Amino acid sequence: MKLCVVGTGYVGLVGAAVFADWGNEVVGVDIDEEKIKKIQSGEMPIYEPGLAEIVLDNIDQGRLTFTTSLAKGMKDADLVFICVGTPQDDKTGAANLSAVLGVAAEIGGNLDGYKVVVTKSTVPVGTNERVKQIVRENAPKGAHFDVASNPEFLREGSSVEDMNVTDRVVIGAESEKAFEKVKSLYDHLNAVIVETDLRSAEMIKYASNSFLATKISFINEMAQICERAGADVSEVAYGMGLDKRVGKYFLRAGIGYGGSCFPKDVAALYKTSTDKAYDFKLLRSVMEVNENQRHYFMDKVTDYFGMNLDGKTIACLGLAFKSNTDDIRESVSIKIVQALRGLGAKIKAYDPKAMENAQGVLGDFGIEYGEGIYEVMKDADGLCLLTEWSQFGELDLERVKQEMKGKVIFDGRNLLDKEAVEKAGFTYFAIGKRTNGGEYGRFEGGSAILKDAS
Ligand code: UDX
Repeated sequence: MKLCVVGTGYVGLVGAAVFADWGNEVVGVDIDEEKIKKIQSGEMPIYEPGLAEIVLDNIDQGRLTFTTSLAKGMKDADLVFICVGTPQDDKTGAANLSAVLGVAAEIGGNLDGYKVVVTKSTVPVGTNERVKQIVRENAPKGAHFDVASNPEFLREGSSVEDMNVTDRVVIGAESEKAFEKVKSLYDHLNAVIVETDLRSAEMIKYASNSFLATKISFINEMAQICERAGADVSEVAYGMGLDKRVGKYFLRAGIGYGGSCFPKDVAALYKTSTDKAYDFKLLRSVMEVNENQRHYFMDKVTDYFGMNLDGKTIACLGLAFKSNTDDIRESVSIKIVQALRGLGAKIKAYDPKAMENAQGVLGDFGIEYGEGIYEVMKDADGLCLLTEWSQFGELDLERVKQEMKGKVIFDGRNLLDKEAVEKAGFTYFAIGKRTNGGEYGRFEGGSAILKDAS
């Protein structure tokens, strides 16, 4: 099939490359000429495992091309995918649809025969109907087209793999012809294809992300109770997750969820609910719990060091919003670094992939960017583990002890083995565990907490 993919961000670039890899003829369109030149030369605008390889391979095979001209990109295409951003409107929490609707108008103006206009961008319920109306208003008289909703469920860091191995493909459409066209793209996958109406397809995307965010906030609240009660939230999550009705995924307690999707999508669904005169109380709590979670982590640091971190050096491992990405959008790790710096601490930070992006946001004031895990620990008073990179879970504790001045670790992602850390002589703070630095002693009325602020 011939495909046109508008937007070369996470969704568009990965989508275009993988569609081409499946044997389709794909044109990626973006208004950013510089970005397109870079992609063509193999320089990816994002770090995504496996992406550069399939982009270059499919360019070489002649199946994947890029252009800044939507008219050229759409020529003879069977499907035109809208994959542009829908950022959160800061004031209302609603998704900003200006890029989506602008592209829809341009698609309408360039229709040259029957096409299905497929929205992949995450858009609130009812948007595909607006897309249809705008395409029609801008299309030549009598032009024939359909719209379809085909939300993506890609996780950053594994999006190429997620395109190829997925539980389900959701297609919302209004005509059999549109269903068939979009479906034929995915037929070879071993996935359930959900055929539904436009509005339900749009809602499935928001419901999925909001539900996953709810699981995270649930386990983060469980962590607070576990820690006070002397239970271990990782054990609890494991025990719960074995029940298939609960499911084992997205039950890792931590410092809260971030990224370009969950915070924005939960806020947008909540906004949709209030627009429909319904107060989605559970989602309100999900957002509130997520905001609080990083304060719960910060409280551990300030309980130990006090509110004034002047003169203290804190080593921070992890800046990306999660592992295997260089993305720092809505990264809770970055927010914690900012909070620590705000209290006067000198920060020494390291992330395997997100250093450059982080530096762009955090600047250089009060922060030193290190080249490796152990380098940033040198003479540090405390160590914070902020992003769940697997290599941070494999620290050589003897080496950590040698490098650091202080002997305290704040593990915001429960990456380390509590027994080993405590045995190595550290005061250990984790999320939702009974540790020698944690909350348990306080809530048992005891003072068994080994706090050493010296
Ligand atoms: C998410 C959805 O998973 C994906 O389906 C959707 O299309 C886009 O949004 P992504 O934002 O890439 O993907 O990351 P994800 O792996 O879902 O993690 C989101 C955030 O939740 C991260 O900050 C991560 O650290 C956090 N998280 C995740 C937890 O705190 N605990 C968990 O158990 C899982």
